[in-house]
Amino acid sequence: MSAPLLSINGLGVHFGGLAALSDVDIELNKNEVVGLIGPNGAGKTTLFNALSGLVSCEGNLELEGKSHEWPQPNELVDLGISRTLQGVGLFPDMTVLENVMIGATKFATGGLIRSALGLDIRTEKVLRSLAMDALAKVSCTGIADRKVDSLPYPTTKRIAIARALVSDPKILLLDEPAGGLGAEDIEWMNSFIDVISNRCSILLVEHHMDVVMSVCDRIYVLNFGKLIASGTPEHVRNNPDVIEAYLGSSAGKQ
Ligand SMILES: Nc1ncnc2c1ncn2[C@@H]1O[C@H](COP(=O)(O)OP(=O)(O)OP(=O)(O)O)[C@@H](O)[C@H]1O
Ligand SMILES: [Mg+2]
Repeated sequence: MSAPLLSINGLGVHFGGLAALSDVDIELNKNEVVGLIGPNGAGKTTLFNALSGLVSCEGNLELEGKSHEWPQPNELVDLGISRTLQGVGLFPDMTVLENVMIGATKFATGGLIRSALGLDIRTEKVLRSLAMDALAKVSCTGIADRKVDSLPYPTTKRIAIARALVSDPKILLLDEPAGGLGAEDIEWMNSFIDVISNRCSILLVEHHMDVVMSVCDRIYVLNFGKLIASGTPEHVRNNPDVIEAYLGSSAGKQ
């Protein structure tokens, strides 16, 4: 069996006296969709932040079986890791296409700075084409030239995903992709995650249990920064600790 794509061992993150994460072990294999669930404040986003170099942490990280330093934010794309933010995190004054092109700047010589200063025409053409391909995946090519602040919230969630996908990641970290969506958009997100899981492995933070249970191969459950359960959706769903800690306290959010 090949080594996991991502292996985290003994992850700890402290904010002053608060242990936001303690001794957390997580693995993500090729072609897996792995859920990371838990009540508000359990440490899910903090785990993504540790993996994205946004908070300092302790513990070991292996990528494809090789030990690796915890990455800096600017190293993520080259490591094949891409994420969406809880919420949306787009630039509201820029167009949809420009927002997605930002996610593709690893393909531009000179990167983001050059992009901000203006790209040469050939590079811009390549980035545009990659961004349009990513927008096609989320069925949003028709609004490429619209300003983001003119769009409804569910559409901006799709664009945020297109921006994460445009760098062709091996590992996609999705932080509450269905958060704030209505039933129809949740259904779309559900099938979309299923489709893109053929292209990359996904670590999914999500409160909507119907989504988590239907798309995830395995699930980890955090509570107060500690792993309290892991396993198949069926196993986790029936685990009394999970019912007590998570499902019991957040059933209203489903
Ligand atoms: N930058 C920070 N400084 C201080 N405390 C923080 C910081 N980021 C997170 N925390 C705290 O760490 C804990 C974990 O927060 P985190 O945002 O990871 O939770 P979460 O599981 O993503 O919750 P939610 O489901 O509400 O998004 C919380 O107690 C939170 O208040
Ligand atoms: Mg969070």
